Amino acid sequence: MTQMTLAFHIGVPSKQPVAIPTYCQPAAAAVARRFHRGLAGYQPTPLYDLPGLAKLAGVSRVLVKDEAERFQLNAFKVLGASYAVARLLALRLGVEASNLNLEKLAAAAQAQQKRLTFVTATDGNHGRAVAWAAQQLGQQAVIYLPQGAAQSRIEAIAGHGAEAVVIDANYDAAVRFAAEQTEQNGWLLVQDTAWDGYEAIPAWIMQGYTTLAQEAWEQMQMLAVQPTHVFLQAGVGSLAASQLGFWQTLSDLDSPPVFVVMEPSNAACFYLSAQRGNSQAYAVTGELQTIMAGLSCGEPNPLAWPLLRDYATAFVSCPDYVAAYGMRILGNPWLGGPRVTAGESGAVGAGLVALLAEPRYAAWRQQLRLDENSVVLLINTEGATDPENYHNVVWRGHHPLP
Ligand SMILES: Cc1ncc(COP(=O)(O)O)c(C=O)c1O
Repeated sequence: MTQMTLAFHIGVPSKQPVAIPTYCQPAAAAVARRFHRGLAGYQPTPLYDLPGLAKLAGVSRVLVKDEAERFQLNAFKVLGASYAVARLLALRLGVEASNLNLEKLAAAAQAQQKRLTFVTATDGNHGRAVAWAAQQLGQQAVIYLPQGAAQSRIEAIAGHGAEAVVIDANYDAAVRFAAEQTEQNGWLLVQDTAWDGYEAIPAWIMQGYTTLAQEAWEQMQMLAVQPTHVFLQAGVGSLAASQLGFWQTLSDLDSPPVFVVMEPSNAACFYLSAQRGNSQAYAVTGELQTIMAGLSCGEPNPLAWPLLRDYATAFVSCPDYVAAYGMRILGNPWLGGPRVTAGESGAVGAGLVALLAEPRYAAWRQQLRLDENSVVLLINTEGATDPENYHNVVWRGHHPLP
């Protein structure tokens, strides 16, 4: 079933929520952060204050963590991929996992004459990140992309020396294909979603993502604010669950924030799972057509679903116009805020926060307890990773508000 109107589902708070896994908690975030600090060119990405959007939305602050600037790779994904590839290589080389360092690992691999092939399936961003990490370590990568993958994303992957292969199927089928190819060829799969028996690597990826939350928390402390609302976009849900896990267990907060999970209408597997009210996640199949390519995933990560199910306040099924609206808002600052170049998957939160200011959504706003005291945290998870679509949306006005 597809939903092409903006649709909300308010979650039922669980009386017995699952425990937050340690790999999403602040102590694990500190370990991931130490690893990332050791990467050449590491810098925290900026946390921007958007006074114009806050005024429009009728909230105290809207802060956006701009992952477009992450290691000049245009997306947050490298936080997970670099950490997981390093952990996996360390395991293969018999190198101690504490104090992992990319340069030392590369040297150890060379000394042992190890040349391994890292594999993944991707909409583009995660594959580029795996390709980058493999290249940094002197290793190889094979990256599978679903049908319709943007040429710019394919080229970005090949630009890191990886083999980029487009298959004639959707993202979820590409994941299965990558797993089969890995099995047949004795490669190493670095997938950002889990299944029975394949959990350790996606958990490392989620741990890697917590660096983003830890940085945001430090930056918020400098501004003397705490997040009351965290808007999280979800594909397979690894990013959303990792951030939720961090903020939910951060003991420094006065109270945990309200979490809002956002997905494209055509790939709203968490929204539909929550709506059905089963404890099991529900998968969406088909082409999953959306401009939010990074969120075009029909099968929830089973590590992510229980956390989102038990702790998120709302699940939102967003038509493409929500993301397009967000891209235009972020690209055109108002009241002196910075200009943020946001790709489709990165911008959906800004679009949603702006739409929630409209009187017809007043009831949802109230259920979210969104008001003039709210401090909203958004994550711009990618820059203009598909420049042609970026121009179509921001300059030519494609996907207008209905
Ligand atoms: C730009 C961007 N944002 C968000 C996501 C969602 O992350 P996840 O699949 O972990 O939910 C992705 C995933 O590829 C992405 O590329």
